[in-house]
Amino acid sequence: MSTQPEADWRLFRGDGSQRAVALPPAPPWRRFTPESREPAGAAPLPYLISKEHADVVNAALHLRRPLLVTGPAGTGKSSLAYAVAAELGLGELLRWPVNSRSSVQDALYQYDAIGRLRETTLSRDRGEAEPSIGTFIRLGPLGTALVPGPRPRALLIDEMDKGDVDLPNDLLTVFEDGVFEIPELVRLPEDIEDVEVHTADHRETVTVRHGQVQCSEFPVVVITSNGERDFPPAFLRRCIRLDLPVPDEDRLRAIVEAHLGPGALDSAEEILRQFLDRRAAHELATDQLLNAVFLRGGGVDIDARGLLDAVLHQLTGTV
Ligand SMILES: Nc1ncnc2c1ncn2[C@@H]1O[C@H](COP(=O)(O)OP(=O)(O)OP(=O)(O)O)[C@@H](O)[C@H]1O
Ligand SMILES: [Mg+2]
Repeated sequence: MSTQPEADWRLFRGDGSQRAVALPPAPPWRRFTPESREPAGAAPLPYLISKEHADVVNAALHLRRPLLVTGPAGTGKSSLAYAVAAELGLGELLRWPVNSRSSVQDALYQYDAIGRLRETTLSRDRGEAEPSIGTFIRLGPLGTALVPGPRPRALLIDEMDKGDVDLPNDLLTVFEDGVFEIPELVRLPEDIEDVEVHTADHRETVTVRHGQVQCSEFPVVVITSNGERDFPPAFLRRCIRLDLPVPDEDRLRAIVEAHLGPGALDSAEEILRQFLDRRAAHELATDQLLNAVFLRGGGVDIDARGLLDAVLHQLTGTV
């Protein structure tokens, strides 16, 4: 096992002495830019799924239906959407993280009416041409997913159970028809047919004709839920359901090796044992094991009780 000198690991000592400390490389799953990935241009993180579960994904792909993925925390629900988008070459995954204030309307598009008023007044004062209304319209992740293109896009509607009770019903029509209107553009004079608007993709624009966006192929939609809310039958009927179980020991080993390299568990068998024992008693997520093995790989004395408790902490109950 490669052991880091203790001084290197103890970045923070709590003694108030100021030091310009260089942080060591982050775990592969906490690197945010392509440049920070090692080796340069490395493939996206690996995803391991059983054949039966992969076939449920395939059923959704063939039927052009959203895939509703449920399962305990950290079982790979959100990562599945990234894996499908990457493997099928569907471009950058569009993400709609749902919270209590999320609305289908905002996920379709947002119109900055105040910004337009301000800019239009400024332009008039300067004697310049008014900016196009499209400058103030930005399609959200759902709206962008419905833009017709050569390939369907992939959309992750993450943690839909955190949303408003009406959210699933509000989505029904969009899921059924794959179309939406932008009334601000529909109202424009007849001679303005095409308007260029922003999309959810960084710095991308798209042309909207007659204020209507109609998908040519239904996007690949992955919806995740932690089961905090029941969904209505009309919504469930339109989805294909995949319930991801907690991974068994063999799969855990494979996931750890896929993330941290072959042999990553050689010096961490005891941690895997501890993880399995603790998981038998209460909920633990796969990435907690990854975190523990990563720390051990860096030579940390993770067996020290306090540290192991901090990393493999129980996920349910009050904190
Ligand atoms: N089947 C898997 N294959 C590879 N990695 C996995 C798998 N399952 C989980 N992981 C790892 O665990 C981490 C957590 O997974 P993910 O965020 O997808 O879980 P989740 O089910 O969406 O959890 P939550 O309900 O908390 O959002 C991922 O970043 C990934 O590194
Ligand atoms: Mg998730």
